[in-house]
Amino acid sequence: MRFTIIYASATGHTEDIAERLNRLLPGSELKNLDRIDFTKEIEKAEALICCTPTWNTASDVKRSGTTWDDHIDNIPHLELKDKPIAIVGLGDSAAFSKYFCDAMEELYRSFESAGGRMIGHVSIEQYIFDKSKSVIGEMFCGLPIDEDNESEKTDDRLQAWARIILEEASST
Ligand SMILES: Cc1cc2nc3c(=O)[nH]c(=O)nc-3n(C[C@H](O)[C@H](O)[C@H](O)COP(=O)(O)O)c2cc1C
Repeated sequence: MRFTIIYASATGHTEDIAERLNRLLPGSELKNLDRIDFTKEIEKAEALICCTPTWNTASDVKRSGTTWDDHIDNIPHLELKDKPIAIVGLGDSAAFSKYFCDAMEELYRSFESAGGRMIGHVSIEQYIFDKSKSVIGEMFCGLPIDEDNESEKTDDRLQAWARIILEEASST
């Protein structure tokens, strides 16, 4: 299963994480959301990883603060039935502890509405934060990464998650 990794980034953290994931996943492709034909790229992908920071603190909608906000309303209308899709969120669990990685959930719900098979949920256990819209049930709806406070944990988080999504994407 080959992943297309699509990212948008304001100050470079999300771009860096997308690049690191690209190196961990055999055969994957890396795409900057600002430079692609969005619908075409998303619909032709075998499996997707969508990476977003959270900038619009406490917002109900358009939480990313990047180009994802321009596409978010369109995503549910795409035809993505059963395509494996995973979300990565960049955030700051100390300064924005009540809104940690909130943008992940917005992307997650949009892709789920389009029929995506959502994979890559992550336990909340290894994270310290007050609140996050991206906790669904007992799990994060994707992989939270905190480069502002916990960059030393990032390599392990990426490696563990890469193994999980490869497995989940391939299982039917
Ligand atoms: C003004 C501002 C608002 C932010 N709001 C949030 C937030 O609500 N939730 C969160 O988890 N992180 C928040 N962050 C942290 C960023 O999401 C984090 O630094 C991220 O790594 C940036 O990614 P980027 O460099 O790819 O844009 C905020 C940062 C700033 C400076």
